Amino acid sequence: TEMGCLSIVVLGASGDLAKKKTFPALFNLFRQGFLQSNEVHIFGYARTKLSDDDLRERIRGYLIKGALPENLEILSDFLKLIKYVSGGYDSAEGFLSLNKEISEHELAKNSYGSSRRLFYLALPPSVYPSVCKMIKSYCMNQAVPTGWTRIVVEKPFGKDLASAEELSAQLGELFDEPQLYRIDHYLGKELVQNLLVLRFANRLFLPLWNRDNIDNIQIVFREDFGTEGRGGYFDEYGIIRDIIQNHLLQVLCLVAMEKPVSLRPEHIRDEKVKVLQSVLPINYDEVVLGQYEGYTDDPTVSKDSNTPTFATMILRIHNERWEGVPFIMKAGKALNSRKAEIRVQFKDVPGDIFKCKKQGRNEFVIRLQPKEAMYMKLTVKKPGLDMSTIQSELDLSYGQRYQEVQIPEAYERLILDTIRGDQQHFVRRDELRAAWEIFTPLLHDIEDGKVKPVPYKPGSRGPPEADELAAKAGYVQTHGY
Ligand code: BG6
Repeated sequence: TEMGCLSIVVLGASGDLAKKKTFPALFNLFRQGFLQSNEVHIFGYARTKLSDDDLRERIRGYLIKGALPENLEILSDFLKLIKYVSGGYDSAEGFLSLNKEISEHELAKNSYGSSRRLFYLALPPSVYPSVCKMIKSYCMNQAVPTGWTRIVVEKPFGKDLASAEELSAQLGELFDEPQLYRIDHYLGKELVQNLLVLRFANRLFLPLWNRDNIDNIQIVFREDFGTEGRGGYFDEYGIIRDIIQNHLLQVLCLVAMEKPVSLRPEHIRDEKVKVLQSVLPINYDEVVLGQYEGYTDDPTVSKDSNTPTFATMILRIHNERWEGVPFIMKAGKALNSRKAEIRVQFKDVPGDIFKCKKQGRNEFVIRLQPKEAMYMKLTVKKPGLDMSTIQSELDLSYGQRYQEVQIPEAYERLILDTIRGDQQHFVRRDELRAAWEIFTPLLHDIEDGKVKPVPYKPGSRGPPEADELAAKAGYVQTHGY
């Protein structure tokens, strides 16, 4: 294992993402012993003028809400590790003083002659280029010969293919790909990480996972709240960029990819890129966009906004395994429930002697959240004297089966991966490009008003047209769960 001191720098430390995701994840890692106080220092950086204690109080205020009494002492030990430096995102002076703080910490704690510096950009992407330039100019660990510098960035990585490529080029000039960690937090979710194991460690699925047996696959994200407080951001991006182009597409890759040569991050990402490159251009007859009624009441949203808050579309993968199998991608805000799941629907049994079609098909459901679960819908004989059939489930609900395990938060896992230098669950530059290639024409046409969202009622299933589209693609509503 690597030794020596570790400096974690949270840029945008006074913001919402840092408060709600980054610091809680760091705290959880600390609590579980993955960050050691004799090695680690955490530096918050932002424009706001704050003292160390001001920042600590903010973080404490948020973390204390869910904290168990036995964690309170650990929380105060954690807060002691945090320092704050204020400065602008293009200010040489600011980054020089940040560097000074980091170097002092390294001198004080570094008995092994190495330095590890992790920069977490909890910032809007518009400042990524300038911040990265500042880090590169003023905060590299030159005095210490060994160690590393890594940069963690969050979506949105651009708005379309051209802007994403520009951003990639700007960052690429400053840092090498192994130093750049593009977070898609869906890749940190337990059941997303389980997908490769499920597919490639179970003989059961190997022969079935293809166009001969699978009729259609749905990848669905629903939220039961609207854009609350994020209207300004959201209106510029919309549901396709916010959810489908990244989170759901990453899930699609893991569901559809071929077996990688090994579990090495490059081998896995090579296979994901191939899936993305095999996705055919989107057919607009297979797209339904929606916007919930009341969306434009938000003062930060433009009154005549064309931005979709809901989308269903069929993606088609042109390769030997998947030709003809529709991937029904669905995402929406302000719907009737909060859920993310993958539904793999198998074909009907040929030559059915039970006349049981109305009972539905075999369907394998992987529920990413809430309440992680996998269940398989099967047709069984209805228990009793009659010879009739019903649909039932083989159910692996994590809450029941793994009661003693606390499933880690996505961010916790992903930050630990960055410290360990494992890029498997991060998006590679060519993956990002291929993902934007799929959606850019549609996104431009939405912006030009050529494709328009239909209204839907908040708290509903979304526009009925979306259910019709899924049904047309072959999805059959099954019974049971
Ligand atoms: C974020 C989106 O990336 O993911 C949000 O910007 C969305 O709009 C969130 O609410 C959903 O994440 P999760 O982990 O709650 O499903």
